[in-house]
Amino acid sequence: MKTDITQALVDEHRLILRMITLLERNAPRTAAGDYTNWQFYLDGVDFIRNYADRFHHAKEEDVLFTALVNNGMPRENSPVAAMLMEHDQGRTYVLGMETAVRETLDGLPGRENVIAENALAYAALLRDHIAKEDDILYPLAERLIPETMREGILKGYGLAEVQATTGFSEQYRNLIATYEQE
Ligand SMILES: [Fe+2]
Ligand SMILES: [Fe+2]
Repeated sequence: MKTDITQALVDEHRLILRMITLLERNAPRTAAGDYTNWQFYLDGVDFIRNYADRFHHAKEEDVLFTALVNNGMPRENSPVAAMLMEHDQGRTYVLGMETAVRETLDGLPGRENVIAENALAYAALLRDHIAKEDDILYPLAERLIPETMREGILKGYGLAEVQATTGFSEQYRNLIATYEQE
């Protein structure tokens, strides 16, 4: 039995998917003028930047994907390259969403559609992205990466954990649970 190197990432996907579900629920209501809790979007941006990007994507980009490349997967024109491009595309949508929310808070009218479009584009991209990682890339990594490298990978994940503040995941779990009850 090999040391597992992907279950922790699959678990993180579950929390990210809960935020995606919230975006899918709230964005159409914002476009229709029925949901104006802008703080939800700012909290969503904060969660995506710090948890999905800095915490989860750092483990992928700096540790797991690097290990895949070190085990023969090309860096260009490969599944890893596609995943990295999607991370970047996601950052663009999140910035678009944040900018439109801040413009709204500054009093600019009619930005609701831009908020909703970016939120839904992010949600669709990430839902598809996560499915590809869970179903294809992670199982591939479990087959490809030799046991001798696995302790090092877990140590690499630990580094991302150490850089996060105490109660980091718990705090975001609570935040998402609060919005789920809205
Ligand atoms: Fe990813
Ligand atoms: Fe991921």
